[in-house]
Amino acid sequence: MGSVIIGTGVAVPPRIVTNDDLAAIMDTSDEWIRSRTGVRQRHIADPGVGASDLAADAVVEALRDAAVAPEDVDVLITATMTPDQFAPGISGMVQDRCGLGHIASFDLRQQCGGYLYGLDLADALLRSGKARCVVVVGAEVHSGYMPYGASWEILRGQRSGPADPVDHAAATEARGWAVLFGDGAGAAVLATDDGPGTGFVGSVLRTDGSHADLIEVPGVGFRHQPYVDAAQLEARAHWPSMNGMELFRQAVTCMPAAVREVLAGADLTVDDLSLVIAHQANDRILDGVRKQLGVDADLVPSNIARYGNTTAATLPILLHEQRAAGRIEPGDLVCFTAFGAGAHWGASLYRVPGAR
Ligand code: UT7
Repeated sequence: MGSVIIGTGVAVPPRIVTNDDLAAIMDTSDEWIRSRTGVRQRHIADPGVGASDLAADAVVEALRDAAVAPEDVDVLITATMTPDQFAPGISGMVQDRCGLGHIASFDLRQQCGGYLYGLDLADALLRSGKARCVVVVGAEVHSGYMPYGASWEILRGQRSGPADPVDHAAATEARGWAVLFGDGAGAAVLATDDGPGTGFVGSVLRTDGSHADLIEVPGVGFRHQPYVDAAQLEARAHWPSMNGMELFRQAVTCMPAAVREVLAGADLTVDDLSLVIAHQANDRILDGVRKQLGVDADLVPSNIARYGNTTAATLPILLHEQRAAGRIEPGDLVCFTAFGAGAHWGASLYRVPGAR
């Protein structure tokens, strides 16, 4: 018995912030952001909208797409690094908002690798017979990290510039990571399937905790007593801290290696692949992955220009778009791959049910 994807859904906040909008509140430019990352715009949530809200909307759409009633879901897996509040996680909020039963639900904290881990866990639950229908949703509201102060009013069109010099300086200090990220959610419904050799046919999940400091939020944690205080905020310990260049190097090495490893384990090669749904962190990382695998842009598509990096939501948003565009056909071999904070990375192989 295997597990197959029977529905997908996406939810992004309607407000869009372009690179030019960011250039009005910090020292950056559309040219820099586009040429170094491929990002042209990102969606941003309004205050009061949490990852659980976007996740719930994506789950509702995915259930509708799959024609599955909320009461028929057995397990809900939510992946996020930007939960609505410190505790509890968002899975219970999503379960409640979507009208799911009193089912098992849990959060994953594998950042950009979260959705890949979620798919693998869902497959294991379905394959073992512990569940017959599992929903996996990745959702992020990164906007809460952004130290834009009163400049948010400019981004939200509530007033025109110029930005206050103190806000401008803080935003510029954060520009190395702040311009990369966007908000959004994507979900998939998975169910058991009896088809021979279809569904998830292999996976490789990896962790190297010695690289946890490549991208981390070092403060607001229980090694500190109290866990949050003015000193940490003063030291910007609640901001992401990122070694972009080394992350870049790791991502272009680890993702192709995981893809090759999972293919080899299934006695398949790169030539057998119909599509690679790869984590969207930077267009130049995607170029590196294509080069390492010896494939073209059509096989490893990108949508980062429109969303930025939505961390746990990049895989399901791209999956949903590729399904909608008719790029996923019966018999196709799809590879999912991601690399992210932790460091957690890997790849999984999915054979679309039905004959070619
Ligand atoms: O999923 C995990 C999330 N993160 C990633 O995957 C990130 C992976 N890494 C990357 O995508 C790239 O390393 C970045 C896009 C973050 C940076 O690109 P880069 O080509 O490695 O640039 P850099 O960090 O070496 O910075 C080059 C220059 C620096 O100025 P100086 O020191 O040369 O004068 C930066 O201060 O660009 C400057 N810079 C910016 N300039 C304008 C950094 N951010 C910006 C910005 N606008 N937003």
